[in-house]
Amino acid sequence: MAQDVVKADTAKTDVVITAEGVAMRFGTNTVFQDVTFEVRRGEVFVILGGSGCGKSTLLKLLIGLMPPSAGTMTVLGEEMAKLEGAARRDLLRRIGVMWQSGALLGSLTLAENVMLPIEAHTKLPEAARRMIAMAKLGLVGLSDAADRLPAEISGGMLKRAGIARAMALDPEILFLDEPSAGLDPITSAGLDELILSLARETGTTFVVVTHELQSILAIGDRCIMLDKEARGLIAEGNPKHLRDQSEHPTVRAFFRREARAGV
Ligand SMILES: Nc1ncnc2c1ncn2[C@@H]1O[C@H](COP(=O)(O)OP(=O)(O)OP(=O)(O)O)[C@@H](O)[C@H]1O
Ligand SMILES: [Mg+2]
Repeated sequence: MAQDVVKADTAKTDVVITAEGVAMRFGTNTVFQDVTFEVRRGEVFVILGGSGCGKSTLLKLLIGLMPPSAGTMTVLGEEMAKLEGAARRDLLRRIGVMWQSGALLGSLTLAENVMLPIEAHTKLPEAARRMIAMAKLGLVGLSDAADRLPAEISGGMLKRAGIARAMALDPEILFLDEPSAGLDPITSAGLDELILSLARETGTTFVVVTHELQSILAIGDRCIMLDKEARGLIAEGNPKHLRDQSEHPTVRAFFRREARAGV
């Protein structure tokens, strides 16, 4: 009996995100509906699909920027859409986000950029904030660039700095929207390796939005695929497994067509 209880608890804490029957509509435009999935602690979970299928929209729902039109989502056991004030801030503090644009403030050095969220969410003195920022920049291999301005580093370094900033408060879940967009294949592969090593070393759960097949195959433990025409999920599972075994024509086309053009 006691064992059953322990098991149930473990199973519950292993799931960090749930989405149940989620729909998002803008006016008469239904972007997706009936979206149901869960994300488990410590995995790299990829949200994939063609342009305009609703990947960024789903991310915005997950971090509570807007409520879903229907259905429920929980993040770390809380329904973000229903939280307000301090409870909402507390939950937001436990997650990190790097947006598609990844923008850092151009007038601040990388270290100062990483210190920003620490300043916003804690009362730590400057020396402590800087120490944390340096540790995070070290994690992404940018210790030497800490005092440079964003304009003085490359696109790949900018993305890594964006990840360092998103990790400033040791988030339990890190959301990355198209981290490798606009990078050359080698830099992009380096970023994939960074994400994998961070996931393994820090135990952070990653939710990564991308439509780049190479990244999906390289980093994804599990993925969901959204589709514009179907207005919802058309696949869920391990990306390599989907590539090799899916019988859904759109899923096959996505994995095979891009595989030929890519690797
Ligand atoms: N605030 C909004 N108001 C109205 N429509 C929106 C809004 N945000 C997104 N949409 C619509 O939702 C759909 C999905 O957009 P979204 O940005 O989520 O796609 P995406 O999968 O992230 O695409 P991409 O790969 O190009 O980044 C699009 O048709 C878009 O026009
Ligand atoms: Mg997007």
